[in-house]
Amino acid sequence: MSDIGFKHKIKSKTYAEDLDAKFPGFKSEFSIPTIGALGANNTDPNDTRESIYLCGNSLGLMPNSANAAVQAEIDTWSKQGVTGHFRRQDKREPWVTIDNPVSELLAPVVGAADASEVSVMNTLTSNLHTMFAAFYKPTAQRFKILFEKKAFPSDNYALQSQCQMHGLDPNETLILLEPRSGEYTLRTEDILAKIEEEKESLAMVFFSGIQFYTGQFFEIEKITSKGKSVGAIVGWDLAHCTGNVPLELHKWEVDFAVMCTYKYLNAGPGGIGAIFVHKKYANDNRPRLAGWWGNNPFTRFQMLDYFDAIPGAAGYKMSNPSVLNTVCLRASLEIFQKAGGVKALRLRSLSLTNYLYDLLVQSDYYRTIEESNLGSVTPGFTIISPSRPEERGSQLSLLFLPIGKGLMQHVFSKLEQKGVVGDERQPDVIRLAPTALYNDHYEVLEAVDILESSFVSFSD
Ligand SMILES: Cc1ncc(COP(=O)(O)O)c(C=O)c1O
Repeated sequence: MSDIGFKHKIKSKTYAEDLDAKFPGFKSEFSIPTIGALGANNTDPNDTRESIYLCGNSLGLMPNSANAAVQAEIDTWSKQGVTGHFRRQDKREPWVTIDNPVSELLAPVVGAADASEVSVMNTLTSNLHTMFAAFYKPTAQRFKILFEKKAFPSDNYALQSQCQMHGLDPNETLILLEPRSGEYTLRTEDILAKIEEEKESLAMVFFSGIQFYTGQFFEIEKITSKGKSVGAIVGWDLAHCTGNVPLELHKWEVDFAVMCTYKYLNAGPGGIGAIFVHKKYANDNRPRLAGWWGNNPFTRFQMLDYFDAIPGAAGYKMSNPSVLNTVCLRASLEIFQKAGGVKALRLRSLSLTNYLYDLLVQSDYYRTIEESNLGSVTPGFTIISPSRPEERGSQLSLLFLPIGKGLMQHVFSKLEQKGVVGDERQPDVIRLAPTALYNDHYEVLEAVDILESSFVSFSD
């Protein structure tokens, strides 16, 4: 089919609706913000039309069931006070074990062998520190950390401070990989070559599974295997992977991983975090940042003066978890279970994101990366996320051109006014992430139409 024929076909409402019929979603399980409630400039606060929410990469939407789940905890607190820790009139999970069923639901989402490899605890950055404290063990010979120059800042700060706490200079300890000139994503071959080059001195390889800015999905299995073959510990920040792409952390022999739950796992703002620790470390009693909630539950309340770690990931818990956060996560994970898990959802996710990609590439405003590198382009955008579907999750990152002329800000505010929710990364990038659970193809089509129409009113 000619380009024009293809464009005509995919731009039709029927085409989008057929895809929705082929890949039905779970939108009715979620609260979709209305355009009025979002409160963007020049919008009517009483506009009750649903927004097009393409921001699950930042904060996932609220499962409707979270309302009742939270209310039940509040009710138990009000009616039972402290006894809710141990028994419940409403027959729900007592607070002392509130996270146990959640770990059971989370294990298949990340490809853990079983629930003992995951623990629902803390928040993401604090879990980074918890894992680094236990697994980063520099020696005079082996102390370097392979990392990414453009990683999320919190990961960078966490690693720099860990170096300092070991008396090491971050500049000599962190090896910061960046994409080749003119490219936006890292090549696996370059990561593997760097591991080989530094094989005598590497203590740890640490990357994010999906890069927050570009949406690049790293080859976790290959990188983990290479890192381990040279004797390094390999850990991953899976903030943008969990609930987005299928993972096989146990099979891939990942040493540890950290996750947040407020993005694709829809557990709410500031939601509780989670970790994965491979089974091989289950009983190794390694020194860690210990707390009473990681202690053997049978002796926890005897208040003993020594720490007796729970085998597995649960042994890294420190505090009793936030019950309200934990039940929100459970509400969302139950929808994942109902949907057949992340592998089943990945088919829908690929269809949605590939559709978004095709529509964008067919746009008159689309420029190739090569064109964008030339500098002098007419207003438009390029896509800095990988073009191959297997190298990305839901998210596509659009770089607006020419750089620094205010086009991104113009388009972003037009999208907001028309009820399309994405997120901006100053100065020139907008990230859009159709989410498998609650977005549909028709919305993607509408979002691209709105994006294209917003160029018309731009003058630099
Ligand atoms: C990749 C990545 N790492 C770390 C963080 C920090 O998360 P938190 O504020 O939950 O510690 C984020 C937040 O979005 C993130 O995307």
